[in-house]
Amino acid sequence: MIAKSSMAVLVALALTSAASAQTPSAKSWMNPKLSPDERAALLDKELTLDERIGLLHGPMAIAWGKVKLPEGALGSAGFIPGLARLGIPALQETDASLGVANPGDVRPGDGATALPSGLAIASTFDPKLAFEGGAMIGGEARDKGFNVLLAGGANLARDPRNGRNFEYLGEDPLLAGVMAGEAIRGIQSRKVISTLKHFSLNGQETGRTMANSVIEEGAHRESDLLAFQIAAEKGQPGSVMCAYNLVNGDYSCGNPHLLNDVLKRDWRYKGWVMSDWGAVHGTDYILKGLDQQSGEQLDGTTWFGAPLKAAVERGEVPAARVSDATRRILRSMFAVGLFDDPPVKREIDYAANARIAGKVARDGIVLLKNEGGLLPLVKNAKTIAVIGGYADQGVLSGGGSSQVVPPGHKGAKIALGGEGMMAAWRSMQFHSAGPIGSTPLAAIRKLGGTGKVTFDDGRYLASAAAAAKAADVVVVFANQWMGEGEDAPDLSLPNGQDALIAAVAAANPKTVVVLQTGGPVAMPWLNAVGAVLEAWYAGADGGEAIADVLFGEVDAAGRLPVTFPASIDQYPRAATPGRSLGPKERFDVVYSEGSDVGYRRFAATGDKPLFPFGHGLSYTRFAYANLKVVGGETLTVSFDVTNTGARAGKDTPQVYLTDRAGKAGQRLIGFERVALAPGETRRVTMTTDARLLASFDPVAKAWKVASGDYAVAVGASSADLSLKGVAKVRALSLKP
Ligand code: BGC
Repeated sequence: MIAKSSMAVLVALALTSAASAQTPSAKSWMNPKLSPDERAALLDKELTLDERIGLLHGPMAIAWGKVKLPEGALGSAGFIPGLARLGIPALQETDASLGVANPGDVRPGDGATALPSGLAIASTFDPKLAFEGGAMIGGEARDKGFNVLLAGGANLARDPRNGRNFEYLGEDPLLAGVMAGEAIRGIQSRKVISTLKHFSLNGQETGRTMANSVIEEGAHRESDLLAFQIAAEKGQPGSVMCAYNLVNGDYSCGNPHLLNDVLKRDWRYKGWVMSDWGAVHGTDYILKGLDQQSGEQLDGTTWFGAPLKAAVERGEVPAARVSDATRRILRSMFAVGLFDDPPVKREIDYAANARIAGKVARDGIVLLKNEGGLLPLVKNAKTIAVIGGYADQGVLSGGGSSQVVPPGHKGAKIALGGEGMMAAWRSMQFHSAGPIGSTPLAAIRKLGGTGKVTFDDGRYLASAAAAAKAADVVVVFANQWMGEGEDAPDLSLPNGQDALIAAVAAANPKTVVVLQTGGPVAMPWLNAVGAVLEAWYAGADGGEAIADVLFGEVDAAGRLPVTFPASIDQYPRAATPGRSLGPKERFDVVYSEGSDVGYRRFAATGDKPLFPFGHGLSYTRFAYANLKVVGGETLTVSFDVTNTGARAGKDTPQVYLTDRAGKAGQRLIGFERVALAPGETRRVTMTTDARLLASFDPVAKAWKVASGDYAVAVGASSADLSLKGVAKVRALSLKP
């Protein structure tokens, strides 16, 4: 057995030994004064074809069936061997956007700090928190020895049933782009490369490898691609991960339009494109823009290994293209600091990290309904009945590759079973007993003071109703586990929890519902309950965060980054495409809504959602006044926000475009998080990214802003617009 400290030394040596193979003076690329491009070019020149090809593919880094853990791999999602001869470190790649994963417990007993879900992060509408959360998980990845975090999930929530919405950042391209960009920037500030994924239109999990996403070019640029573009600009991710699905007829990872034209030509992206795991179907993908094949066991063939070499030798793939792919990888490694400051394993302060997760959770929990001031809960109330949702076990998390297991593996794990490849991933992992966290039940007990807090697990309606009746106030928890590889079939809560809530509310109308869901759900019981809190998946310190919001220790500050529809019929694809097909049948997912995703489409159809995008109540009140809209090349919008209530609180005023030179339609063009003391007023000024005023013209390959009057509205949600103004904008053409 090796002691922890000597282990750290060994790992540090292993990580740096390659670097000492040559004398530093011979390694011109190690000169930090040169640009990453120069350094990558110098190093690439030294490589043989075989060495280049060695950097362009790699396996999953887990022991799997007959496959052994690759030599030198720490154990995680992926591994690209380094090159000792030239001191190129291996790429040790781990999932994901919400913390460091440990698939199949490949690193026995290793846990990590879970951030709240992507939707919770997006609900904060606070780019600083996205950065802080990113820096925290990036730091943990680094301290575990990883140098690539497969994070930066930025697909738009086009379908509320999508099983991976919880990993992403909502339905709006500006919000998702800014938050993903800041999260990536945070991760990379810790000298760990982040991906931006899954490029593009991986909009559903049902048949994800057979789904052909069909969309008109302009609409794509104005929606999902805009989210990716903003994230890429802000975050400068070292790598972009292409997706499992096809886009307009070509697989994403072999899609020359997406990878060569949009990403590398139009956006001048300098990093590398890595494939999703099992998303490569041919060697020619290298000509179509893919630079690296990941998780090669899943493809069956190592397309970017021997077949690629043969293709180069036959002259089918130019050697220059192989060198370009290699340089892209090396460039990102230099740019992010993998050569100059490689990771060294270190003890992690999980308590400090859980506190950061808790900060995000407290700002991301959304108060959807609060009748008669039922919340905040009164301390020392006689009896609070807590019911259901495994509230005695912890807070729920989402499943699949982004699954984070708590440090010390504390927190219950309940297998859901099932068949097929994803079955092993189908477990409800609860987070509870981290270094500072506890279960929601324990946290409620702590804040409940002298009041009595009872618990009923909610399995039997009769006993739950009896517990509700006997209490002054009821807090009923309802969970929707979501995971990679499957979508929810509808918007109901699973396991009869809708009936449980209805029964509890019938017994006691002073019922607070705490939802832990992967995305929007229907609420057939909404009129019968007093309050609803959307806690999402609340992460490492989630139990305490939920209790703090319930008791008003902090303001209810989250705002919805996704629309909650009244019914699935309000969406363009009421039946999930491909749901009834076999696993090998190709099908189209036609995104007929174009760029009118979520609230934008509700604005177009006039339908009324259950809760609109941007909605979220506070424990205080805010008012907006003195709107000024200045036009020109873009819009600059300023207005006053005042806390008119009696307590401190946080607001997120939102600015929407409602008309563009005669074209009606709603678009979020600005938002800001403001914390205000009672009576305090702050003037907020936002300048619009001109692309949000534009339409993308696929023929001219440019963003076109038409001249004319642009109407703007400021409000507390996409459906609550209190200030309105207008200004003239000049015609403008912007490069793509
Ligand atoms: C997921 C990716 C993930 C990869 C590696 C895939 O199944 O789609 O998001 O990074 O696996 O685990």
